[in-house]
Amino acid sequence: MGAVAALTVGMLTAYAAAQGTSTKGEPDLAAPQSFDAIPDQAARSAAMFSELGRVLTHPRCVNCHPAGDRPRQGDQARLHQPPVERGADGHGLTAMRCASCHKDANFDPGRVPGHPEWHLAPREMAWEGLSVAQICAQIKDPARNGGRKVEDLVHHIGEDTLVGWAWHPGFGRTPAPGTQKQAGALVAAWVSTGAACPQ
Ligand code: HEC
Ligand code: HEC
Repeated sequence: MGAVAALTVGMLTAYAAAQGTSTKGEPDLAAPQSFDAIPDQAARSAAMFSELGRVLTHPRCVNCHPAGDRPRQGDQARLHQPPVERGADGHGLTAMRCASCHKDANFDPGRVPGHPEWHLAPREMAWEGLSVAQICAQIKDPARNGGRKVEDLVHHIGEDTLVGWAWHPGFGRTPAPGTQKQAGALVAAWVSTGAACPQ
């Protein structure tokens, strides 16, 4: 992306951020239309992925997509206490299965987040420590994204209820930026403009 385009994206993002602020103080996600002024389609696509990157690099997502074998907790992404591990299927070792603590829904009195499918993303889907450009390359690679086409990501990010937990994370946790619907709209627009990755 050229310097001019990069500058434009920065201005647009700042503009979009000024348009709305969610209840927790996280700026909303920019809508796909706010990138219309970028004439080059690949640059526009990449700019939309960069905006989506604010979600993908958020601790609500990365804590479940860690580089190692242990999940992370909280906005500081500290190592999970007690020291649980992913195990063979991502649901934990035999002695400490995720579901023994993580129930079907958040349990706020105990600060325990919940969902019926609560488990770690497989190691090849780790995002911890990656740049947004690296996550983009990985998320497009069927060998590292669970065999998905980019089109499948529209539904997965926009509608999957485990992903959706990140916007309703329960007691004391900062939700992912914007709404799941806005994130889904960005993915759809990114795909329809050729799913280009930022540099
Ligand atoms: C012994 C109980 C227990 C087990 C077993 C357990 N967890 Fe947790 N987990 C917790 C508690 C309690 C918290 C909330 C800690 C806090 O934020 O104060 C938590 C928080 C988390 C978070 C943090 C969410 C966020 O963004 O802040 C993730 C991710 C997580 N657990 C994943 C897992 C996974 C994956 C497994 C299975 C491999 C697992 N946990 C097994 C008790 C457990
Ligand atoms: C509770 C743990 C958990 C949380 C929180 C979580 N994920 Fe995942 N994620 C998973 C698991 C498990 C898989 C593997 C599911 C599969 O392939 O069927 C996965 C797979 C994915 C994939 C497909 C593979 C890839 O890397 O391309 C995407 C995209 C994804 N997650 C997006 C997100 C986003 C965006 C967030 C935050 C808004 C998020 N996830 C939060 C557990 C989690």
